[in-house]
Amino acid sequence: MRFLAVTGGHRVDRDAFTAMLAGICAERGWVFQHAVQPAAQDWLGPEHRGVFDAVLCYDLPGLALRRGTAPRPVPPAPFVARRLSELLDAGQGFVFLHHALAGWPAWPGWAEVLGGRYHYAPASLRGRDWPDSGFRYARYTARICAADHPVCAGVGDFELSDELYCCPVFSSDVVPLLRADAPPGAFRETYHEVLGTERNGPAWEHPAASDLIGWAKSAGRSPVVYLQPGDGPDTLGHPAYRRLVANALEWVSSAAAHEWASRHRTQVTLPLSVVWERNQVMDLQLTGRKALVTGASRGIGRAIAVELAREGCDLALCARGAEPLEALAKELGGTVYTQAVDVSDEQAVAGFVDAAAEQLSGLDVVVSNVSAGGLKGPDQWRLSFEADLMAFVRMVEAAVPHLERSDAAAIVAIGTTSAFDTLPPTSANSYAALKAAVLEHASGLGHALARKGIRVNTVSPGPIDFPGGAWDKLHEGRPEFYEGIRARIPIGRLGHAEEVARAVTFLASPAASFCTAVNLVVDGGFTSRVQF
Ligand SMILES: NC(=O)c1ccc[n+]([C@@H]2O[C@H](COP(=O)([O-])OP(=O)(O)OC[C@H]3O[C@@H](n4cnc5c(N)ncnc54)[C@H](OP(=O)(O)O)[C@@H]3O)[C@@H](O)[C@H]2O)c1
Repeated sequence: MRFLAVTGGHRVDRDAFTAMLAGICAERGWVFQHAVQPAAQDWLGPEHRGVFDAVLCYDLPGLALRRGTAPRPVPPAPFVARRLSELLDAGQGFVFLHHALAGWPAWPGWAEVLGGRYHYAPASLRGRDWPDSGFRYARYTARICAADHPVCAGVGDFELSDELYCCPVFSSDVVPLLRADAPPGAFRETYHEVLGTERNGPAWEHPAASDLIGWAKSAGRSPVVYLQPGDGPDTLGHPAYRRLVANALEWVSSAAAHEWASRHRTQVTLPLSVVWERNQVMDLQLTGRKALVTGASRGIGRAIAVELAREGCDLALCARGAEPLEALAKELGGTVYTQAVDVSDEQAVAGFVDAAAEQLSGLDVVVSNVSAGGLKGPDQWRLSFEADLMAFVRMVEAAVPHLERSDAAAIVAIGTTSAFDTLPPTSANSYAALKAAVLEHASGLGHALARKGIRVNTVSPGPIDFPGGAWDKLHEGRPEFYEGIRARIPIGRLGHAEEVARAVTFLASPAASFCTAVNLVVDGGFTSRVQF
């Protein structure tokens, strides 16, 4: 085993830390290399996946910390965040220790990678406002709570005197490994400690601390372990702690852990500033436009909403579930109206379109994205008819009076390559047939509504893979089928939701002012017909 140890960003007892790593390597016949932030980031990209069997992070990136000054979050440079998330999605074992939990506070997705976040300053996380986190030193028992997990193999409960945290931990999303059994005691707040000032006003309060101090989880397709217990020399020299660290490194580098993480793949979400960082070389003239997107809470619809927001649109978004929409609205900021709507309900669709136009003071863009999918079942034809075709028909009927008042009105419907291709994954079901009807109707509307100044186009994606989507499930459940499809795509991979979103955004924008009744295929060359 060869692992990379990363430090930097927070003080580390270098002698004790190096002695621990040397001890582990001597005992297990391993080797390690040491890199310091920010130079360590050179190693944290997808091209280096597998160079190290595991990465051990005892660092604190993304936070400028100096006693006497306010802790200042520093967002990751776009290429740093992109490379890290690609590395995680490719599958690289990571073990994080102690204050690594405070890393990249300006990157919400990083807290999801680690399973919680230690806040040096008040911040919001998962849509909730948090005070700065707390710390205290105590003599406590570290209790193993998953004796049969490989990380805990051969480790019993052990006593130590070190630092405990009071901060948000996503306990229900992680596999608990270690808990702190500590006598009661008060936590001290971090912000004023760093600043060296006394708090004015009401006393510091924080929701009760979690007793979890060690857990396993997945991030992208990577197995991840976080071990908090402490950072003092006694802890780093403690045989039980060392064994935990060594076991964690061994587990995250094992085939079993990679297989587990792949089955529990999670999305590594880039900071919006990174998603939006690309230079604009073409002005799509969407700033201030009012756009409605259906099925916007995940997958392709969500990516379309993000892309339109990036271009400066005010948004009206719907899906059946309200919560993910509200969370997205909070993340996007700006004007975002959300409503829980089932688009197969005729009245609800018309109501949503009118409410959206009222809330946004008009409508310029309508994206019909919902599909009932391709599952077979007794009611599937009716479901597809209502959710794929009739929802689009009714949405257009309800939207036309509003769109007529826009000087750049556009409708985009989402099709699929299955509507005009007969090879797998296409099969004889309602999905392909009703999507073909959507393409046909959109083309007709493109001609019929042109004189009203409303353009109508479709975007037909090929197989698009995103965490939690249909292809992600096939990747796990039927890997040989997934691989067979991937092998047929000339670009060599399945598409990303953002790649569809960009095509939709272009057709929705005034930059596509002479495009109507177009079906733009976004499939990496998957379908072989000549597009004319
Ligand atoms: N993914 C692909 O590979 C692929 C390929 C070709 C075409 N497409 C097309 O792209 C579009 C989006 O696909 P996707 O894979 O991103 O889908 P998805 O992951 O299943 O997401 C569907 C979205 O629509 C919402 N939704 C589902 N039924 C709804 C209903 N009756 N009323 C209102 N909202 C509803 C869902 O939220 P709730 O569950 O909360 O309602 C969710 O926000 C679909 O038209 C699909 O046919 C996808």
